[in-house]
Amino acid sequence: MEEFFYRELIKYLKLAEEKRRWNPFKDIHWAEANPDTSDTLAHCVETFCAVEMYLPDFTSKMLNMIRRSRGRAWFHVNWGYEESKHSIALESWLLASGHRTEEQRKAAEEALLGAEWELPFDHPRQMVAYTMIQELATFWNYRNLEKIATKEKDWALVGALRLISVDERVHYNFYRNAVKEWMKHDDQGMVEDLKYVFDNFIMPGKSQIPGYDESARILAKTGIYGPREYVKLVKNPILEDLGLDKDFHLMEEREAQYKADREAREAALQREQIIVGNGHAIPKNGSSTNPHPLNSKALNEQLENNKARRNGASRSNAENGNGHQRSPLLDAIGMEPKRRAAGTSQSLIVPDAPGLPPGEEGHENGNGAIIRPVPQDDGGGATNGERLPGSRGMDKLDALDQQLIVEGDEKSNNAEEMRAERRKIRSNRIKNDRLRRMPPEES
Ligand SMILES: [Fe+2]
Ligand SMILES: [Fe+2]
Repeated sequence: MEEFFYRELIKYLKLAEEKRRWNPFKDIHWAEANPDTSDTLAHCVETFCAVEMYLPDFTSKMLNMIRRSRGRAWFHVNWGYEESKHSIALESWLLASGHRTEEQRKAAEEALLGAEWELPFDHPRQMVAYTMIQELATFWNYRNLEKIATKEKDWALVGALRLISVDERVHYNFYRNAVKEWMKHDDQGMVEDLKYVFDNFIMPGKSQIPGYDESARILAKTGIYGPREYVKLVKNPILEDLGLDKDFHLMEEREAQYKADREAREAALQREQIIVGNGHAIPKNGSSTNPHPLNSKALNEQLENNKARRNGASRSNAENGNGHQRSPLLDAIGMEPKRRAAGTSQSLIVPDAPGLPPGEEGHENGNGAIIRPVPQDDGGGATNGERLPGSRGMDKLDALDQQLIVEGDEKSNNAEEMRAERRKIRSNRIKNDRLRRMPPEES
């Protein structure tokens, strides 16, 4: 596996440098950010941006686990660089469109970085499976978000999301190929790990991001991503890509061979002995040794202090035309934030950050965090007064979905192999459908 990872790393880097690098400051037409887009769109962008904010944890904690693997560790660092551009691009849009002020951006950042993301699985191979699932989920998050941005005619966001989703597809392919390679060496162990990870999968950020449940509800309502999309667009396609059926069994022709030598393999297979570096030395969120536990009185006081400091500082800082602090990001792009007729929209992460139109006071929840009431779902669903239609899921994959999948595949290692795989998956799908429709045997 080590040789495989090193070879894949080199192929990946070459392809990335030659075909996929993009510049978040120049390659996105930020001037086309649309200030008339909905608050709901901004909520969704903010949620994904929030997930990408845990990059220091995604990179450092994994790196500790895989530091002895040249291929995986170097890949991981490069992956982290690409992910950092995703959050920069999403943050730029929130500012450029006028949905968020620089003060709101800082407040969200402080609220988010108080919590730590922990590795959800403690075996490197399970982490490969986890990241594979997460990357495909992220591809669809951004691709489906792009559909809404298109409806709302925000061409800056559409452009950014298209670049990002191709990156995510390529990331998925890297991990998918690793899983397939592992299956060649240890079918059963890899499939067991995969099943375990699927059974215990949660998207990163769920227990860290303030207001996550409300954000997840909005994402599901809009049809961008919910339990239905998870099964239809992520879980089932991954099983297909790996040649597994719905019960995690290998497809029939391999099944027969698999059964024959399972017993021998079970005895022979020894799980890898993995020594995790100092990962366990990091205090968990709830631990009293973590100086910044989420939702603690201390965090809240710190946020209040920071807010007071910010308010004091904002008077002396250079201000933009809207009376808010200047954003270093927009300065780098070279634009002023758009002005929204309705004012900036409300963050779900830090609802009372400066920039809000005056409104309801927040209240403290039992854990010391300030919670601002969010309009409740009245059946149709509403955020900031916007009605959400509720979703029956996205339509069938459209031509652009297919095109982006192919574009991502073509920019990935083993493009040729994957072309052949797509053909095979199509025929497997037909075979599976036929099996499912077969009438029960007559007695
Ligand atoms: Fe990303
Ligand atoms: Fe990614």
